[in-house]
Amino acid sequence: MAQTPQAKYRKDYKQPSHTITDIELTFDLHDTATTVTAVSYVKQLGDETTLVLDGEGLTLEALKVDGADWSDYTADESSLEIRELPAQCELTIVTLINPEANTALEGLYKSGGAFCTQCEAEGFRRITYYLDRPDVLAKYTTTVIADKETYPFLLSNGNRIEEGLADNGRHWVKWQDPHPKPCYLFALVAGDFDVRRDQYQTKSGRNVALEVFVDKGNLERANHAMVSLINAMKWDEERFDLEYDLDIYMVVAVDFFNMGAMENKGLNVFNSKYVLANDQTATDGDYLGIESVIGHEYFHNWTGNRVTCRDWFQLSLKEGLTVFRDQEFSSDLGSRAVNRINNVRVIRGPQFAEDSSPMSHPIRPEKVIEMNNFYTVTVYEKGSEVIRMMHTLLGEAAFQKGMKLYFERHDGTAATCEDFVAAMEDASGVDLKQFRLWYSQSGTPTLTVQSQYDAQAKTYSLTVEQVTEPTHEQKDKQPLHIPFDIELYAADGTVIELQRNGKSVHNVLDVKEAKQTFVFDNVAEQPIPSLLREFSAPVKLEYEYSDEELTFLMVHARNEFARWDAGQMLLAKYIRSNVIKVQNGQAVELPETVVDAFRGVLLSDELEPAFVAEMLALPGHNEVSGWYKCVDVDAIATVLHAMKVQLATELEDEFSATYHTLKQAEYTIDHAAIGQRALRNSCLGYLAFTEQGNPLVKAQYQAANNMTDTMAAMSAANNAKLTCRAEIMADYSEKWAHDGLVMDKWFILQGTNPAENALQTIKETMNHEAFSLKNPNRTRSLIGSFFNNNPVNFHAKSGEGYRFAGEILRELNSSNPQVASRLIDPLLKFRRYDEARQALIKKELETLKAMDNLARDLFEKVTKALEA
Ligand code: TRP
Ligand code: ZN
Repeated sequence: MAQTPQAKYRKDYKQPSHTITDIELTFDLHDTATTVTAVSYVKQLGDETTLVLDGEGLTLEALKVDGADWSDYTADESSLEIRELPAQCELTIVTLINPEANTALEGLYKSGGAFCTQCEAEGFRRITYYLDRPDVLAKYTTTVIADKETYPFLLSNGNRIEEGLADNGRHWVKWQDPHPKPCYLFALVAGDFDVRRDQYQTKSGRNVALEVFVDKGNLERANHAMVSLINAMKWDEERFDLEYDLDIYMVVAVDFFNMGAMENKGLNVFNSKYVLANDQTATDGDYLGIESVIGHEYFHNWTGNRVTCRDWFQLSLKEGLTVFRDQEFSSDLGSRAVNRINNVRVIRGPQFAEDSSPMSHPIRPEKVIEMNNFYTVTVYEKGSEVIRMMHTLLGEAAFQKGMKLYFERHDGTAATCEDFVAAMEDASGVDLKQFRLWYSQSGTPTLTVQSQYDAQAKTYSLTVEQVTEPTHEQKDKQPLHIPFDIELYAADGTVIELQRNGKSVHNVLDVKEAKQTFVFDNVAEQPIPSLLREFSAPVKLEYEYSDEELTFLMVHARNEFARWDAGQMLLAKYIRSNVIKVQNGQAVELPETVVDAFRGVLLSDELEPAFVAEMLALPGHNEVSGWYKCVDVDAIATVLHAMKVQLATELEDEFSATYHTLKQAEYTIDHAAIGQRALRNSCLGYLAFTEQGNPLVKAQYQAANNMTDTMAAMSAANNAKLTCRAEIMADYSEKWAHDGLVMDKWFILQGTNPAENALQTIKETMNHEAFSLKNPNRTRSLIGSFFNNNPVNFHAKSGEGYRFAGEILRELNSSNPQVASRLIDPLLKFRRYDEARQALIKKELETLKAMDNLARDLFEKVTKALEA
């Protein structure tokens, strides 16, 4: 490596020496040589007269101060130092960049035929030299010049204020954004698109033009994104009293994008995966994903853009809060229980795994080498759980008062996580002093609960102990303030009111100490406790439930989430005990009572189909792996497979009856219909493991009139290794080879193929006409799914899965380090496997570490993982 990358620390935050109040940008767009002229109004803030700007991969063409050439400067690989500047001046910088050679997809690049930008977190420095930090807020005026025929649409942030023709068939458009913003929210797009137009009238009566730009020919696939956008605008007015603040809102879908989408002011750029959908190309899951990401980016307009982050350590200020808002949006529009279940799966799976990995970090990290590495499930999803806990502690009304105060204090500025908590505290009067630890402490607390019933005194006590194990980067842990939501049930299913000294007690207990006992009185009989209701804190719960108590809660808990969670705990007990059995060479067993509990769920006519489908889903291999210090990949896979087969066999009649009852004549995408398909396809997934599986799956594939049913059949064939798999896969690939986005579903099935020769097939699939390692969606679908969701083949004892990973990562290290750095995650956890596998993975990490062009993204992760 040329230079060892340097870490930055949160504690070292310093205000900038200068600020930039206004900037006029001119882009003369050409594929390989684009000229960027930046005229900035620079103001000195303290005594420092030297201005150091960030810049990467730029060719400096000219530098002027107040219109005159300036020579007192030095430029190196990552910065431009300009000395002896006047306290206020107009700084002109001309740089030359090559968008076509930009495969990292940061800064200005080409996606298909269009120019587009991605500036978060630190991509603006690849466009021009600038103070590339979120606490410098400027007003932007942007002129875009390009060939008129190839690039009829020239877009940037704010309002279009002028346009005209230029020489050589070129034209230009000038945009002005009245809202000061940090440069990470800058965006530019130039291309030829179909545009879906609509409008929205805000509740104060202003009209907003809505425009969704998609590749030519895709217009009818943009409808759901538009509907979702309108729903999001309306929801934010109703629930948060927040209105949109410009006359136009644009969304552009591009095929080459490192993440999901980006909230640039007034001009969101989206991964086309989160825009394009129709019933032939998208599954119900895709529709819901679009709704949630469209919502997420829209909600950033207030939580992220109007109030932005002071520095990148504060990322969760905007991301945790905006994820909370998008989760609430989806829950208000659809099923709250199903949304909660899926959000909790993400915490218990990938987030707990990250917390116990070498990359563990608090939701507000203390130390960063490459910021792109901190757009994590911890900052986003655990960050959202932290906001949700405050919401639980304050209640909706006080939480909304806190939001109002937060905007009153910080609108138009760059704020910190502390500012947010302070606003919540001040608006509600709730003491959040100890609660703040959630921002600085990493790791997953375990709550161990013990109960005692005193029949004589009629008291019931819960003793709660909290322990957070040391994490990779932080050894000492303190007790957290944990909102612990509980309920007690009598044997007849009624709720026992919580009382203490004759007074009723709130059902959310404040756990604050390492060990604490809560006593309730007037408890007439031995109760059954429902604990950590709604997953009221991102913790692991340990309580010795009997099977009877869990099957009781599966039926009697008032709240759907609690019923689901009881089902999960019951399954967990038998997954654990069967893993031990398999390790001792014994057969997997599931008692009749457990099978019957799930039969009851399936036959219930009170429960919503979407919820029943969730109840029937076994925890995944990754989530189960997280329960173990040393992961036995094959034993876990054997157990999950055997349990699925046993449930399928014993409940075959019920699955079959439900499957046939839920047949739909017509395809609609309302929540009720989505729920019915979910349950029907969950039945199909089980039935695939029975005798009737092959003909049934094949028939569904052939009869399907929508992508949800098509994919369900194809996945069932894949998971159960049915003989019809090959035929179905071939048919699909022939039909959709021209459409990369639709092929992604097929690539995922190749990646997760449980068959023994899967890796060989994957290598051949890399030659498929629709595949390209340059496209992040294709790469994540085929390669990412193999690394993360094909446990048995990826962790093959031969080491071939790891060697393949090494090859791919070395290639992506040069072309797209951000994508490489996301893909490497499963390898970082090498210490959790047996010694032979550890050695094989370690070898790949060491080979990477020795590369002389190792990107900082991979450098940070590889060095952390290899540290003892
Ligand atoms: N702010 C974006 C979001 O959460 C995330 C994002 C999009 C991003 N593209 C990125 C982050 C590129 C880092 C790099 O909606
Ligand atoms: Zn976001």
